[in-house]
Amino acid sequence: MDSVPIIWAVGGGKGGVGKSVVSTILAFWLARMEKRTVLIDVDLGGANLHTLLGIKSPPRTLNDFITRKFGSLEEICIDTEAKNLRLISGSSEVLSLANPHFSQKVKLINHFSKLDADYVVVDLGAGTSFNVLDFFLAAHEKIMVLTPEPTSIQNAYIFVRNAVYRKLSRLSSKNPSLQALVKIAMDPKNELKVRTIKELFEFIQESSGKDVVAPIEKEIGEIRPAVITNMVKDNKEKNAGRIVQIVAEKYLMIQSTNLGSVFHDRQIFSMVSDMVSLITLDQSSHAFANIYEIVTKLLGDRDVSIEDKRKHPSVKTENLIS
Ligand SMILES: Nc1ncnc2c1ncn2[C@@H]1O[C@H](COP(=O)(O)OP(=O)(O)O)[C@@H](O)[C@H]1O
Ligand SMILES: [Mg+2]
Repeated sequence: MDSVPIIWAVGGGKGGVGKSVVSTILAFWLARMEKRTVLIDVDLGGANLHTLLGIKSPPRTLNDFITRKFGSLEEICIDTEAKNLRLISGSSEVLSLANPHFSQKVKLINHFSKLDADYVVVDLGAGTSFNVLDFFLAAHEKIMVLTPEPTSIQNAYIFVRNAVYRKLSRLSSKNPSLQALVKIAMDPKNELKVRTIKELFEFIQESSGKDVVAPIEKEIGEIRPAVITNMVKDNKEKNAGRIVQIVAEKYLMIQSTNLGSVFHDRQIFSMVSDMVSLITLDQSSHAFANIYEIVTKLLGDRDVSIEDKRKHPSVKTENLIS
Protein backbone atom coordinates (compact mmCIF):
# COMPACT_ATOMS: atom_id res chain seq x y z
CA MET A 1 0.00 0.00 0.00
CA ASP A 2 1.22 3.46 -0.86
CA SER A 3 1.04 5.60 2.21
CA VAL A 4 2.20 9.03 3.23
CA PRO A 5 4.70 9.33 6.06
CA ILE A 6 3.65 10.56 9.47
CA ILE A 7 5.33 13.89 10.12
CA TRP A 8 6.67 14.82 13.56
CA ALA A 9 7.86 18.41 13.91
CA VAL A 10 10.07 19.43 16.83
CA GLY A 11 9.97 23.09 17.82
CA GLY A 12 9.68 25.18 20.93
CA GLY A 13 10.97 28.65 20.56
CA LYS A 14 14.25 29.06 22.35
CA GLY A 15 17.59 27.94 20.85
CA GLY A 16 19.79 25.61 22.86
CA VAL A 17 16.98 23.71 24.59
CA GLY A 18 17.83 20.50 22.75
CA LYS A 19 15.48 20.42 19.78
CA SER A 20 18.16 18.96 17.52
CA VAL A 21 19.39 16.44 20.07
CA VAL A 22 15.84 15.29 20.85
CA SER A 23 14.90 15.13 17.13
CA THR A 24 17.96 13.00 16.42
CA ILE A 25 17.30 10.52 19.22
CA LEU A 26 13.56 10.35 18.41
CA ALA A 27 14.45 9.52 14.81
CA PHE A 28 17.09 7.03 15.95
CA TRP A 29 14.54 5.08 18.02
CA LEU A 30 11.93 5.12 15.26
CA ALA A 31 14.52 3.66 12.91
CA ARG A 32 15.54 1.10 15.52
CA MET A 33 11.87 0.07 15.73
CA GLU A 34 12.04 -0.78 12.03
CA LYS A 35 10.25 2.39 10.90
CA ARG A 36 11.84 3.84 7.79
CA THR A 37 12.68 7.31 9.01
CA VAL A 38 13.95 10.53 7.47
CA LEU A 39 15.30 13.25 9.75
CA ILE A 40 15.12 16.72 8.19
CA ASP A 41 17.02 19.79 9.31
CA VAL A 42 14.73 22.73 8.68
CA ASP A 43 16.77 25.07 10.85
CA LEU A 44 17.23 27.10 7.71
CA GLY A 45 19.48 29.65 9.36
CA GLY A 46 21.76 27.47 11.48
CA ALA A 47 21.68 23.91 10.26
CA ASN A 48 23.76 21.57 12.44
CA LEU A 49 21.92 18.27 12.51
CA HIS A 50 24.51 16.55 10.35
CA THR A 51 27.20 17.13 12.99
CA LEU A 52 25.02 15.34 15.58
CA LEU A 53 25.14 12.36 13.24
CA GLY A 54 28.90 12.59 12.80
CA ILE A 55 28.68 13.88 9.21
CA LYS A 56 31.22 16.66 8.73
CA SER A 57 30.21 18.02 5.40
CA PRO A 58 26.98 16.72 3.88
CA PRO A 59 27.32 15.98 0.16
CA ARG A 60 23.80 17.21 -0.59
CA THR A 61 21.60 19.65 1.33
CA LEU A 62 18.14 21.17 1.18
CA ASN A 63 19.69 23.99 -0.78
CA ASP A 64 20.21 21.58 -3.70
CA PHE A 65 16.48 20.95 -3.70
CA ILE A 66 15.46 24.57 -3.35
CA THR A 67 17.77 25.65 -6.16
CA ARG A 68 16.33 22.79 -8.25
CA LYS A 69 19.58 20.92 -8.66
CA PHE A 70 17.50 17.92 -7.62
CA GLY A 71 13.80 17.56 -8.24
CA SER A 72 12.85 15.41 -5.28
CA LEU A 73 13.75 15.21 -1.62
CA GLU A 74 14.55 11.52 -2.12
CA GLU A 75 17.57 12.53 -4.15
CA ILE A 76 19.08 14.63 -1.39
CA CYS A 77 18.61 12.07 1.40
CA ILE A 78 21.88 10.89 2.92
CA ASP A 79 22.31 7.48 4.51
CA THR A 80 23.44 7.46 8.13
CA GLU A 81 25.25 4.82 10.15
CA ALA A 82 21.90 3.62 11.47
CA LYS A 83 19.73 1.24 9.49
CA ASN A 84 16.39 2.77 8.40
CA LEU A 85 17.59 6.28 9.19
CA ARG A 86 18.30 8.84 6.50
CA LEU A 87 19.08 12.53 6.83
CA ILE A 88 18.17 15.58 4.81
CA SER A 89 20.70 18.15 5.81
CA GLY A 90 19.96 21.83 6.12
CA SER A 91 22.24 24.37 4.65
CA SER A 92 23.95 26.81 6.95
CA GLU A 93 25.89 28.67 4.30
CA VAL A 94 23.01 29.93 2.23
CA LEU A 95 21.50 32.80 4.12
CA SER A 96 18.71 33.34 1.61
CA LEU A 97 17.30 30.03 2.75
CA ALA A 98 16.73 31.38 6.25
CA ASN A 99 13.76 33.17 4.78
CA PRO A 100 12.40 31.04 1.96
CA HIS A 101 9.82 32.45 -0.39
CA PHE A 102 6.31 31.42 0.41
CA SER A 103 6.14 29.16 -2.62
CA GLN A 104 9.40 27.43 -1.63
CA LYS A 105 7.96 26.70 1.81
CA VAL A 106 4.73 25.25 0.41
CA LYS A 107 6.75 23.16 -2.02
CA LEU A 108 8.92 21.82 0.79
CA ILE A 109 5.97 20.91 3.00
CA ASN A 110 4.27 19.14 0.08
CA HIS A 111 7.41 17.19 -0.69
CA PHE A 112 7.77 15.90 2.89
CA SER A 113 4.70 13.76 2.24
CA LYS A 114 6.25 12.32 -0.92
CA LEU A 115 9.23 10.82 0.89
CA ASP A 116 9.50 7.07 0.82
CA ALA A 117 9.38 6.69 4.59
CA ASP A 118 7.13 5.74 7.47
CA TYR A 119 8.14 8.71 9.61
CA VAL A 120 9.61 12.11 8.90
CA VAL A 121 11.09 13.96 11.87
CA VAL A 122 11.50 17.67 11.21
CA ASP A 123 13.92 19.63 13.39
CA LEU A 124 12.75 23.23 13.37
CA GLY A 125 14.85 26.26 13.97
CA ALA A 126 14.59 28.53 16.97
CA GLY A 127 12.16 31.38 17.12
CA THR A 128 8.55 31.81 16.12
CA SER A 129 8.81 33.15 12.59
CA PHE A 130 6.01 32.24 10.21
CA ASN A 131 8.36 29.78 8.59
CA VAL A 132 8.90 27.83 11.78
CA LEU A 133 5.22 28.04 12.78
CA ASP A 134 3.96 26.88 9.39
CA PHE A 135 6.16 23.79 9.42
CA PHE A 136 5.03 23.13 12.98
CA LEU A 137 1.33 23.53 12.20
CA ALA A 138 1.55 21.34 9.10
CA ALA A 139 2.90 18.33 11.02
CA HIS A 140 0.79 15.47 12.32
CA GLU A 141 2.62 15.49 15.64
CA LYS A 142 3.57 18.90 17.01
CA ILE A 143 6.33 18.38 19.55
CA MET A 144 7.62 21.20 21.75
CA VAL A 145 10.92 20.96 23.60
CA LEU A 146 11.67 23.13 26.59
CA THR A 147 13.98 23.08 29.59
CA PRO A 148 13.05 23.79 33.21
CA GLU A 149 14.49 27.31 32.98
CA PRO A 150 11.87 30.03 33.42
CA THR A 151 12.82 31.75 30.15
CA SER A 152 12.46 28.49 28.28
CA ILE A 153 9.03 27.83 29.83
CA GLN A 154 8.00 31.33 28.87
CA ASN A 155 9.35 30.88 25.34
CA ALA A 156 7.49 27.62 24.89
CA TYR A 157 4.27 29.34 25.90
CA ILE A 158 4.95 32.20 23.49
CA PHE A 159 5.67 29.63 20.79
CA VAL A 160 2.34 27.87 21.18
CA ARG A 161 0.54 31.21 21.54
CA ASN A 162 2.04 32.41 18.26
CA ALA A 163 1.14 29.13 16.60
CA VAL A 164 -2.47 29.65 17.69
CA TYR A 165 -2.52 33.21 16.34
CA ARG A 166 -0.84 32.13 13.12
CA LYS A 167 -3.55 29.56 12.59
CA LEU A 168 -6.22 32.07 13.54
CA SER A 169 -5.00 34.56 10.99
CA ARG A 170 -4.98 31.86 8.33
CA LEU A 171 -8.50 30.79 9.23
CA SER A 172 -9.73 34.36 9.05
CA SER A 173 -7.83 35.29 5.90
CA LYS A 174 -10.99 35.37 3.82
CA ASN A 175 -12.93 37.44 6.32
CA PRO A 176 -11.37 40.93 6.64
CA SER A 177 -13.33 42.06 9.71
CA LEU A 178 -12.46 38.85 11.54
CA GLN A 179 -8.85 39.15 10.52
CA ALA A 180 -8.73 42.70 11.85
CA LEU A 181 -10.14 41.46 15.15
CA VAL A 182 -7.54 38.70 15.41
CA LYS A 183 -4.83 41.24 14.74
CA ILE A 184 -6.08 43.50 17.52
CA ALA A 185 -6.41 40.57 19.94
CA MET A 186 -2.77 39.61 19.33
CA ASP A 187 -1.66 42.72 21.17
CA PRO A 188 -1.82 41.67 24.83
CA LYS A 189 -2.75 45.23 25.84
CA ASN A 190 -5.46 45.70 23.22
CA GLU A 191 -8.26 48.19 23.80
CA LEU A 192 -10.99 45.62 23.36
CA LYS A 193 -9.69 44.01 26.56
CA VAL A 194 -9.60 40.65 24.81
CA ARG A 195 -6.88 38.93 26.85
CA THR A 196 -7.34 35.24 26.15
CA ILE A 197 -8.40 33.05 23.25
CA LYS A 198 -11.52 32.22 25.21
CA GLU A 199 -12.41 35.91 25.36
CA LEU A 200 -11.62 36.25 21.66
CA PHE A 201 -13.96 33.37 20.82
CA GLU A 202 -16.68 35.00 22.95
CA PHE A 203 -16.13 38.28 21.15
CA ILE A 204 -16.34 36.62 17.72
CA GLN A 205 -19.48 34.82 18.74
CA GLU A 206 -21.14 38.07 19.85
CA SER A 207 -20.10 39.97 16.74
CA SER A 208 -20.39 37.27 14.05
CA GLY A 209 -22.42 34.46 15.53
CA LYS A 210 -21.96 30.83 16.51
CA ASP A 211 -21.65 29.69 12.88
CA VAL A 212 -18.48 31.71 12.45
CA VAL A 213 -16.84 30.85 15.75
CA ALA A 214 -17.60 27.12 15.93
CA PRO A 215 -15.38 25.96 13.03
CA ILE A 216 -12.58 28.23 14.24
CA GLU A 217 -12.79 26.77 17.75
CA LYS A 218 -12.65 23.30 16.29
CA GLU A 219 -9.58 24.00 14.15
CA ILE A 220 -7.72 25.65 17.04
CA GLY A 221 -8.63 22.72 19.27
CA GLU A 222 -6.87 20.42 16.82
CA ILE A 223 -3.46 21.99 17.43
CA ARG A 224 -2.78 19.72 20.47
CA PRO A 225 0.99 20.03 20.98
CA ALA A 226 3.03 17.42 22.81
CA VAL A 227 5.51 18.75 25.36
CA ILE A 228 8.95 17.37 26.29
CA THR A 229 10.97 18.80 29.19
CA ASN A 230 14.65 18.34 28.36
CA MET A 231 17.84 18.59 30.43
CA VAL A 232 16.09 17.85 33.70
CA LYS A 233 18.50 17.57 36.65
CA ASP A 234 16.17 16.38 39.41
CA ASN A 235 12.61 15.17 39.92
CA LYS A 236 11.37 18.63 40.82
CA GLU A 237 12.30 19.92 37.38
CA LYS A 238 10.34 17.25 35.57
CA ASN A 239 7.13 19.24 35.84
CA ALA A 240 8.18 22.25 33.79
CA GLY A 241 6.19 20.98 30.80
CA ARG A 242 3.08 20.78 32.98
CA ILE A 243 3.25 24.53 33.53
CA VAL A 244 3.06 25.20 29.79
CA GLN A 245 0.27 22.65 29.52
CA ILE A 246 -1.82 24.31 32.22
CA VAL A 247 -1.27 27.85 30.99
CA ALA A 248 -1.98 26.91 27.35
CA GLU A 249 -5.21 25.28 28.40
CA LYS A 250 -6.29 28.24 30.48
CA TYR A 251 -5.44 31.05 28.11
CA LEU A 252 -5.32 29.48 24.66
CA MET A 253 -7.93 26.74 24.96
CA ILE A 254 -5.28 24.31 23.79
CA GLN A 255 -5.13 20.78 25.13
CA SER A 256 -1.63 19.40 25.10
CA THR A 257 -0.01 16.11 25.96
CA ASN A 258 2.82 15.91 28.43
CA LEU A 259 5.31 13.47 26.93
CA GLY A 260 7.52 13.53 30.01
CA SER A 261 11.10 14.52 30.56
CA VAL A 262 14.62 13.79 29.41
CA PHE A 263 17.46 13.84 31.92
CA HIS A 264 20.49 16.02 31.51
CA ASP A 265 23.09 13.60 30.25
CA ARG A 266 26.76 14.52 30.44
CA GLN A 267 27.62 12.01 27.73
CA ILE A 268 25.41 13.86 25.25
CA PHE A 269 27.00 17.14 26.10
CA SER A 270 30.53 15.86 25.51
CA MET A 271 29.59 13.97 22.34
CA VAL A 272 28.06 17.08 20.84
CA SER A 273 31.14 19.11 21.77
CA ASP A 274 33.45 16.48 20.26
CA MET A 275 31.22 16.11 17.16
CA VAL A 276 30.77 12.40 17.80
CA SER A 277 27.66 10.85 16.25
CA LEU A 278 24.89 10.66 18.86
CA ILE A 279 23.67 7.38 17.48
CA THR A 280 26.80 5.70 18.78
CA LEU A 281 25.82 6.71 22.31
CA ASP A 282 25.35 4.01 24.91
CA GLN A 283 21.68 3.27 24.47
CA SER A 284 21.19 2.50 28.14
CA SER A 285 22.12 6.06 28.95
CA HIS A 286 19.52 8.05 30.80
CA ALA A 287 18.49 10.40 28.00
CA PHE A 288 18.27 7.60 25.45
CA ALA A 289 16.04 5.58 27.76
CA ASN A 290 13.83 8.62 28.42
CA ILE A 291 13.40 9.29 24.71
CA TYR A 292 12.63 5.63 24.07
CA GLU A 293 9.71 5.99 26.50
CA ILE A 294 8.59 9.12 24.68
CA VAL A 295 8.62 7.39 21.28
CA THR A 296 6.58 4.52 22.69
CA LYS A 297 4.08 7.03 24.05
CA LEU A 298 3.88 8.85 20.73
CA LEU A 299 3.39 5.63 18.82
CA GLY A 300 0.93 4.22 21.29
CA ASP A 301 -1.50 6.23 23.22
CA ARG A 302 -2.45 9.13 21.03
CA ASP A 303 -6.18 9.49 20.61
CA VAL A 304 -5.99 9.69 16.84
CA SER A 305 -4.63 6.41 15.58
CA ILE A 306 -1.72 6.28 13.19
CA GLU A 307 -3.91 4.67 10.56
CA ASP A 308 -6.37 7.56 10.83
CA LYS A 309 -3.57 10.02 10.36
CA ARG A 310 -2.39 8.27 7.24
CA LYS A 311 -5.87 8.53 5.79
CA HIS A 312 -6.10 12.20 6.68
CA PRO A 313 -2.73 13.72 6.00
CA SER A 314 -2.92 17.01 7.84
CA VAL A 315 -0.49 18.75 5.56
CA LYS A 316 -2.99 21.39 4.61
CA THR A 317 -0.92 23.71 2.54
CA GLU A 318 -4.03 25.26 1.02
CA ASN A 319 -4.55 26.92 4.40
CA LEU A 320 -1.20 28.67 4.38
CA ILE A 321 -1.12 32.37 3.71
CA SER A 322 1.89 34.16 2.41
N1 LIG B 1 19.46 15.79 27.45
C1 LIG B 1 20.60 16.48 27.32
N2 LIG B 1 21.61 16.28 28.19
C2 LIG B 1 22.75 17.00 28.10
N3 LIG B 1 23.00 17.92 27.18
C3 LIG B 1 22.03 18.17 26.28
C4 LIG B 1 20.78 17.46 26.30
N4 LIG B 1 20.02 17.94 25.28
C5 LIG B 1 20.75 18.88 24.66
N5 LIG B 1 21.95 19.03 25.26
C6 LIG B 1 23.02 20.00 24.91
O1 LIG B 1 22.43 21.27 24.68
C7 LIG B 1 23.03 21.90 23.57
C8 LIG B 1 21.97 22.43 22.63
O2 LIG B 1 21.27 21.35 22.04
P1 LIG B 1 20.60 21.47 20.60
O3 LIG B 1 19.87 20.20 20.37
O4 LIG B 1 21.58 21.90 19.59
O5 LIG B 1 19.55 22.67 20.88
P2 LIG B 1 18.58 23.40 19.86
O6 LIG B 1 18.44 22.55 18.65
O7 LIG B 1 17.27 23.55 20.61
O8 LIG B 1 19.18 24.73 19.58
C9 LIG B 1 23.96 20.90 22.91
O9 LIG B 1 25.27 21.33 23.11
C10 LIG B 1 23.74 19.60 23.64
O10 LIG B 1 24.95 19.02 23.97
MG1 LIG C 1 18.84 22.97 16.61
